[in-house]
Amino acid sequence: MKGDKPFKIVILISGSGSNLQALIDAIASGQLEAQIAGVISNKSSAAGLVRAKCSDIPTSVIDHNHFDDRNKYDNRLAETVESYSPDLVVLAGFMRILGPRFVDRFVGKLINIHPSLLPKHPGLNTHQRALDAGDVETGATVHFVTSKLDGGPAIVQASVPIAMKDCADTIAKRVLKIEHIIFPTAIQWLAEGRVEMRGKNALFDGIALPPYGKLVTTETSG
Ligand code: GRF
Repeated sequence: MKGDKPFKIVILISGSGSNLQALIDAIASGQLEAQIAGVISNKSSAAGLVRAKCSDIPTSVIDHNHFDDRNKYDNRLAETVESYSPDLVVLAGFMRILGPRFVDRFVGKLINIHPSLLPKHPGLNTHQRALDAGDVETGATVHFVTSKLDGGPAIVQASVPIAMKDCADTIAKRVLKIEHIIFPTAIQWLAEGRVEMRGKNALFDGIALPPYGKLVTTETSG
């Protein structure tokens, strides 16, 4: 919240929306001073839409299957996002790659949460890939979005251990718990104007962050 104006965010989802729920809860508890102006999904079946409706948040569905061209889809998405006049656009499990025109339109105001310790394991199936690589830890990263897939400057990162008995599902559960902590934290920093993107860097209180962003320690291991 800057002055009296609420910090407005639009959240893009494709699925369960547990991160969306974490943001709704963080706002309700006062931990996050922001207003969710709208939730947009590319899938009408996304469970996150129900979560939004339960909290009286306006929703829109823009189904990519109804567009024969990626640019047309991105344009419609951008127009819908802009109709909510957001200060920040938040990708929370939005499973579509956005084209460079969309990214350029919102650059510096567009963030994503990714379930790995970037730059390790960009893209999909991150937990299985962490296991296959023999990693002893993994985690989640909140980062600014640029046209390089999962490659924009990191804002915050937190890690969890990988145990011998783990499979991708057990790791996913553990990682989601820390996602639900670092996502509201990062957005609050943005709302307070403490974090910004300048050129290729994320700045915290005016100072460039390291490539992995700020490290946050959580006590989630089980
Ligand atoms: C999360 O693991 C997030 O990091 C990734 O997609 C998943 C979304 O989960 N980008 P949910 O829909 O928020 O539960």
